[in-house]
Amino acid sequence: MKRRKFIEKTSISGLGLFSISTLVSCNTTNEDKKEVKSGAITTNVIKPIVIATWNTPTAVNTAAEVLKKGGSALDAVEEGCKIEEANSKNQTVGIGGLPDRDGAVTLDACIMDEKGNYGAVLCVKNIKHVISLARKVMEETPHVILVGEGAEQFAVSQGFERENLLTEASKKAWEEWKVKSEYKPIINIENHDTIGMLAIDKKGNISGACTTSGLAYKMKGRVGDSPVIGGGLFIDNEVGGAAATGLGEEVLKTVGSFLVVELMRQGKSPQEACEEAIARIVNRPNSNYKNFQVAYIAVNKKGETGAYAIHEWFSYNLHKEGENKNIKSDFYLKN
Ligand code: GLY
Repeated sequence: MKRRKFIEKTSISGLGLFSISTLVSCNTTNEDKKEVKSGAITTNVIKPIVIATWNTPTAVNTAAEVLKKGGSALDAVEEGCKIEEANSKNQTVGIGGLPDRDGAVTLDACIMDEKGNYGAVLCVKNIKHVISLARKVMEETPHVILVGEGAEQFAVSQGFERENLLTEASKKAWEEWKVKSEYKPIINIENHDTIGMLAIDKKGNISGACTTSGLAYKMKGRVGDSPVIGGGLFIDNEVGGAAATGLGEEVLKTVGSFLVVELMRQGKSPQEACEEAIARIVNRPNSNYKNFQVAYIAVNKKGETGAYAIHEWFSYNLHKEGENKNIKSDFYLKN
């Protein structure tokens, strides 16, 4: 099958496979609004904050709880993402994720801390908490990426348990997909595709995490944006953070999350930066953007947030000033 046809057949359904991107903010006190220096600019930072892709209230609350207790942004995003990785009803992340074309569930994840450290695992089978595994790669190895069997072996050596990630519901969905001769995915009607999460802790440090089972019914070995630095996630503690959800191939072609952070560095607000990054995708020559979804979330050092998508139906959870809200994102295809 030609690449374009393959993408048409699989990408839109994959929009049901988004990752989690989250930023959380919690109860805010005057202590939390101290002035901090970011580069040459002195700003009032509202913290802690958590923001995450899609309707992920429990994941965001979990991250917020970590921050409220004085935990680090890194701990917060890991604990938040683990909630969805353990949620077997979420068919886009962790256990219960929809499999590849051959029926194998393979997971991708990455994490970044406030020092610019990065760890990732790609195409991992049988390990549910790949976000924690990505953190282990970052903290316990001299490398930044482990793939497939090597990542699984490393997981077991670190005490992770192997388990079957293919639930009955996801197996049934895959079997139904296989027999449909005219399989036509529907754009982004599902809740998720990826969890991308960003958090600012009480010290004002920013970290982020991204975890996914990737595009539904992908080719064996396919990896999208979620575990790739600058694609599904990027953090620069001097500037802010960004995370992506949607068709990873399109995010990667524009190095989307890195682009959002660099645009913020140049003075754009998180909202303006997300809109510009979506415009880069839409305006690519022969862009097929009407047939796929991409969305970004972002936070800057001041605690300002933004989000933007190509299509309707993208929402994100924001925990800020003690409140956790699911917010419908603005989007490009309004008419
Ligand atoms: N954004 C998830 C993926 O494309 O794999």
